Amino acid sequence: MRNINEDTITQAVIAAMVDCNNPRLLTIMTSLVQHLHSFAREVALTEAEWEQAIGFLTAVGHITDDKRQEFILLSDTLGLSTLVTAQNNAKPPACTESTVFGPFFVEGAPELSLGADIANGACGEPCYVSGQVRGLDGQPVAGALIDVWQSDEDGHYDVQLPTACGEHEHRARARLCTDGEGRFHFRSILAVPYPIPHDGPVGRMLEALGRHPWRPAHLHFMIVAPGYERLITHVFRDGCTYLDSDAVFGVRSTLVADWVRHEAGPAPDGKRSPVPFYTLQYDFVLNTAAAQEDRA
Ligand code: BEZ
Ligand code: FE
Repeated sequence: MRNINEDTITQAVIAAMVDCNNPRLLTIMTSLVQHLHSFAREVALTEAEWEQAIGFLTAVGHITDDKRQEFILLSDTLGLSTLVTAQNNAKPPACTESTVFGPFFVEGAPELSLGADIANGACGEPCYVSGQVRGLDGQPVAGALIDVWQSDEDGHYDVQLPTACGEHEHRARARLCTDGEGRFHFRSILAVPYPIPHDGPVGRMLEALGRHPWRPAHLHFMIVAPGYERLITHVFRDGCTYLDSDAVFGVRSTLVADWVRHEAGPAPDGKRSPVPFYTLQYDFVLNTAAAQEDRA
């Protein structure tokens, strides 16, 4: 294989993979090479631009560690996460829609009882969240595991904040289990809009493109239960700025809900709240697991 030129390079790279014994990998890499080369041809990519792109990806790698996932931010802001989520999560219209996972989920969040205050010191106005998890047949899903996570009122997730002891401290996140009627309730803090981390290469990319880094106020949920498809989603706060310009393209109308403000007084936990508080009521409908197996 010599004297490869502009016209023969694409086929040469594809031919070089002839001994690949992983058919799916071969499909993906063949298509990736074709699209990458077409892209370079279409925009007539210069060497300076290619070097800049390599520098950008290098910076994305350098800033990424176990707390900062710049590659997920890149995928999210380029709409790739939303595209992959959408094409892998088609479900009956009665089901709760999926949306992007984001980079701030943490495995092993504290397992708390229903009614617990999951804020664990995270700052924000009190908010009481409740709802029910059901299947498509309307039957409650008892024993569903619900992971919930959110930012504090300054827009920071616990993993973004330094801790006194250097250990990760779980704040505004928990794992709960639905009761016999599929119901759940917990206390947390009011969700607020926040900018995705934009002090790195992805932030510089957004700025160069004239884009803002903000996300509308939301809570993240991941719900798993035997016999049902795993649901990864958010609930977004109605009326919030950025619902129509989410930096990561995650908003679905069906996921927008009312956070109701209450004056100081009796709260859903039976106590008296000395300060104004919010309530959110939202039910989730899970798809049956069979649908997921069919697609696999
Ligand atoms: C989030 O909502 O936590 C998030 C999603 C995508 C990028 C950054 C943050
Ligand atoms: Fe978030």
